[in-house]
Amino acid sequence: MNVVILAAGMGKRMHSQMPKVLHRLAGKPLLAHVVDTARLLSPASLTIIYGHGGETVPQALQAADIAFAKQEPQLGTGHAVLQAVPHLRDDAPTLILYGDVPLTTATSLQRLLDSAGTDKLSILTVELDNPTGYGRIVREHGAIVRIVEQKDATDAERAIREINTGIMVAPTAKLKQWLATLSDDNAQREYYLTDIVARAVADGVQVVSAQPDAIAETLGVNSKVQLAELERIYQRQQATALLEHGVTLADPARIDVRGALSCGQDVAIDVNCVFEGKVELEEGVSIGAHCVIKNARIAKGANIKPFCHIEDAQIGAGAQIGPYARLRPGTILAEDVHIGNFVEVKNSQIAAHSKANHLAYVGDATVGARVNIGAGTITCNYDGVNKFRTVIEDDVFIGSDSQLVAPVTVGKGATLGAGTTLTRDAAADKLTVSRARQVTLDHWKRPAKIKT
Ligand code: UD1
Ligand code: CA
Repeated sequence: MNVVILAAGMGKRMHSQMPKVLHRLAGKPLLAHVVDTARLLSPASLTIIYGHGGETVPQALQAADIAFAKQEPQLGTGHAVLQAVPHLRDDAPTLILYGDVPLTTATSLQRLLDSAGTDKLSILTVELDNPTGYGRIVREHGAIVRIVEQKDATDAERAIREINTGIMVAPTAKLKQWLATLSDDNAQREYYLTDIVARAVADGVQVVSAQPDAIAETLGVNSKVQLAELERIYQRQQATALLEHGVTLADPARIDVRGALSCGQDVAIDVNCVFEGKVELEEGVSIGAHCVIKNARIAKGANIKPFCHIEDAQIGAGAQIGPYARLRPGTILAEDVHIGNFVEVKNSQIAAHSKANHLAYVGDATVGARVNIGAGTITCNYDGVNKFRTVIEDDVFIGSDSQLVAPVTVGKGATLGAGTTLTRDAAADKLTVSRARQVTLDHWKRPAKIKT
């Protein structure tokens, strides 16, 4: 099929400079949700109608499989679809979607497409207790004969509870003919897409309907209130999917997944964690409360304690991280590494069984196995202009409050005394200390207060 996504509207009630369809749901623009769903249907063409917000919409969504058609001024939904006509292949039906309706599923859209076949017009409809504001589906003897907009409807028509979600499929050659005959002779002086229904009936084309699995699939975003409501619905769906997969969630109402989270068996996630981008948690991983984890791979049995921030990092099996650890991009931790509170690691590899348990900065470093990095240790990787690497070989012990001024290497098995400022390489298996020797002054006395 051809897919057309309407995204030209202005979204006044968002009170924002940004076009409505670029506002984010689960970290992704509303319009990108619709595009991703459309792609699941393998469309022959995919056209986005944009207008309000200028080129920001094509810039944000640009992709080889998307055509953009500008609608300016915006004269209604029928006028919007008309702009897509040059992109539509006549040999396939056309599915019309909306850039501000992000939760529609491919399953429901496939049902709609199946109901339309190649020659029928099919509308996705739902029944609402309060249909105010929507276009109503007018039926005669069960058959759909037209759609009437709220503002054009009689009292009897306003009592109809079956509404037009806006999503529909039409045979393309006919659609092009119908769009060319639309007029704006109505209460809103707009070219209504919905008028194609009466055109189809007049043309002897059968008009049918299909229903989505859930009403939430048809909800649009017109305000920040509605955006927040849809965000909660979406997050609840993600949480339910995780629970059904066997993940333990301390509270399914307090997890946010803004991307793709994949979990092995027996993963447990405590409250208020945020997952962004692509995150993989292997079997038996446990995530403490209040962690923010983005683009990370966490291997079997690792334990991430509360309040950790992890981004573009890999964590080895059985590692113990946090509480209050920060793992920045380029962090690669091997098996059983321990990173404790207030330790920051960046662009560093740390081999198996090494530990930095308290208050340290490990940046641009290559750390061997079984290394102990004492409290307050800092790799001084930056001279204000360039960055340099620190190499710490296997079995090194670094005393507390040491500074390693890179580029520098600490040889295998070396020990650095506490308080060392290392500016040259430290020899393997030896003790290196740089601090002044301790002295005691026997005859020293504290100054006394001078009496006046
Ligand atoms: C439309 C339907 C109504 C349906 C409702 C569902 C028409 C005439 N009416 O009404 O039957 O119940 O949706 O929400 O189609 N848009 C453009 N260009 C335009 C006008 C609109 O791209 O010139 C886009 C908007 O950005 C929006 C969507 O189309 O995403 C719907 O437009 P809107 O004006 O909100 O239609 P409704 O009045 O809600
Ligand atoms: Ca609307």
